Amino acid sequence: MSTAFKEIYQNSIRNPEEFWQKVSDDIFWYKKPKQILNKDNPPFYKWFCDGTTNTCYNALDIHIDQGRGDKIALIYDSPITGNKKQFTYKDLKAKVSKFAGALKNQGVNKGDRVIIYMPMIPEAVIAMLACGRIGAIHSVVFGGFASNELASRIDDSKAKLLVTASCGYEPGRTVEYKPLVEEAIKLSSHKPEKIILYQREGHEVKLNAPKEISWEESLSNAKNEDCVEMNSNDFAYILYTSGTTGIPKGIVRDTGGHIVALKWTMKNIYNIDTDDIWWSASDIGWIVGHSYIVYAPLFKGCTTVLFEGKPVGTPDAGAFWKIISDYKVKSLFTAPTAFRAIKKEDPEGKFFSKYDLSSFESLFLAGERADPDTIKWAENLLKVPVIDHWWQTETSWAISSNCTGIEMQKTKYGSACKAVPGYDVKVLKSDSSIAKPNEMGDIVVKLPLPPGTFPTLWNADERYKKTYMANYNGYYQTYDAGHIDDDGYIWIMSRTDDIINVAGHRLSTGAIEEVLSEHQSVAECAVLGIADKLKGQLPIGLLVLKAGVKKDNETISKECIKMVREKIGPVAAFKVAIVIKRLPKTRSGKILRGTIRKIADKEEYKMPATIDDPAILNEIEEDLIKNNILK
Ligand code: COA
Ligand code: AMP
Repeated sequence: MSTAFKEIYQNSIRNPEEFWQKVSDDIFWYKKPKQILNKDNPPFYKWFCDGTTNTCYNALDIHIDQGRGDKIALIYDSPITGNKKQFTYKDLKAKVSKFAGALKNQGVNKGDRVIIYMPMIPEAVIAMLACGRIGAIHSVVFGGFASNELASRIDDSKAKLLVTASCGYEPGRTVEYKPLVEEAIKLSSHKPEKIILYQREGHEVKLNAPKEISWEESLSNAKNEDCVEMNSNDFAYILYTSGTTGIPKGIVRDTGGHIVALKWTMKNIYNIDTDDIWWSASDIGWIVGHSYIVYAPLFKGCTTVLFEGKPVGTPDAGAFWKIISDYKVKSLFTAPTAFRAIKKEDPEGKFFSKYDLSSFESLFLAGERADPDTIKWAENLLKVPVIDHWWQTETSWAISSNCTGIEMQKTKYGSACKAVPGYDVKVLKSDSSIAKPNEMGDIVVKLPLPPGTFPTLWNADERYKKTYMANYNGYYQTYDAGHIDDDGYIWIMSRTDDIINVAGHRLSTGAIEEVLSEHQSVAECAVLGIADKLKGQLPIGLLVLKAGVKKDNETISKECIKMVREKIGPVAAFKVAIVIKRLPKTRSGKILRGTIRKIADKEEYKMPATIDDPAILNEIEEDLIKNNILK
């Protein structure tokens, strides 16, 4: 058997600077870095700190310089609206340079923050790249978040400008962005100076000049902007993600390390070359969308697909096969939930048999645990390798995967394969000792993290240190628990904080609890993620009411559901809130969420030794049965 992977992996861990120095030769630098890794101030490591480069140059201009300007960079396909468009690298550069000029005209300069709150349309990608061109820091906010979440991101990033669109289209519903933006600006204490709004065809909205201008108008007197030279450690973007409290964490990405690492992953993890067509069916509002709809494929110079649709219902469960067949897609990356949705609608793959998928070579899944049933179903249908790989917003690229461009590893169902070069993954026990093979513990990565991961949190160095680097000295704590087996395969079993994964979307139960606690009748509450066949997990809320509340339970429950939708957004998929008498707690007052979840998921559980009143667990079980949660 070949040892290519083992050798490359070990080299990356033993000689990280040498390894990444070689990899960094593959990108465009204005000034090549002489210092590969600065370790002066751990845990704040800096990759390529004296190098200068530009994100947009590496995504677009470089390919034109190299004679590939007429190659298709971006394919947009929207089964929701029926629109389709293709952009060559030259087309995309022209549009991006012009919009960069528009941003400049509105006073956006290097280092300024720009919020992008948009549906899955090419203009969203153009706005992201235009920020990179002039050195502005973008922060994309997922369209399924409500005004409150948008407001907290405006405040934390102190965005100078916000780019949005007149609407987004969800199956059966039009998402009006303008009222959501207006409400967010009302709620935020920091006010962006300008709003640029892209008017979607057939859905134009009224704008209030001079603060609000249309995309078209912003372009009217804009000149083409060139790329600015950025220090490797200047920030390229902020992407907010759920934290253990309601306050989202601003994950930042540096410029140089991001380009180096992401470009490397396209060949080494995904086996994608410049002539290939690649598709990541995610949303640009998530890290998978940032890295694998936009940046990595464009750094690589291949073709990327931007899909404004769903795996089912737009119009049917054959939507994915149609895209693969129409554009000759080589590999697809999506969340397991998308495949569970297709499997549910079309278990026998009737739609699949209508299309020619001869171009298709591999399917990559991430974002949540891929259940073996779904992987096997997809393998049987597609007859190509189905690869589960594990990563996080914090890292921006896979921590563990089958590195198909280096050497194919065998599949172990339920495992996210082996640590990727650059990541020294360990499992630690609570006393910080290293767990034996197959022994459960906290999954951590030895510092320094490889390039492209997060060097800090936006304006929150202390939070970065305290949250991620303090519990295990010298390690990054992933907040995932699991084990590594005898062959080095990593098994991700659960989160160790309050994060749940709903349809591949990362949510904080703490943030939902904060919203529920604001209801006048609620004395205390607990939110937990219970197993769901389609979405992996679904949040449910348990409410204990204040004494003397007169309102009926059903009304309170409906009001609570509405509050979560309005404050966090429809993406929380929060549809169940039940009133119970009491919450089980430890004698010190900690709510036993883990035990309740186990009861709800019908898992075996041990009676917690510290429980104040064991009888409450029977009560909870009865409440869950009464409310059709436990059948
Ligand atoms: N803008 C506005 N609302 C959005 C939205 C967006 N970009 N994306 C989702 N929503 C809304 C949905 O319309 C839905 O609203 P509803 O309560 O009015 O029906 C709600 O948020 C929940 O959406 P979702 O969790 O996506 O569920 P769904 O039932 O609409 O679809 C799937 C289920 C499986 C088809 C869908 O979750 C899916 O395609 N998942 C792929 C996962 C993915 O891309 N993950 C990204 C990380 S890899
Ligand atoms: P996000 O930051 O939204 O990408 O979510 C990251 C979290 O999703 C991880 O910390 C895991 O809990 C979970 N996750 C991502 N990929 C996988 C996977 N392949 N298997 C299990 N869990 C995963």
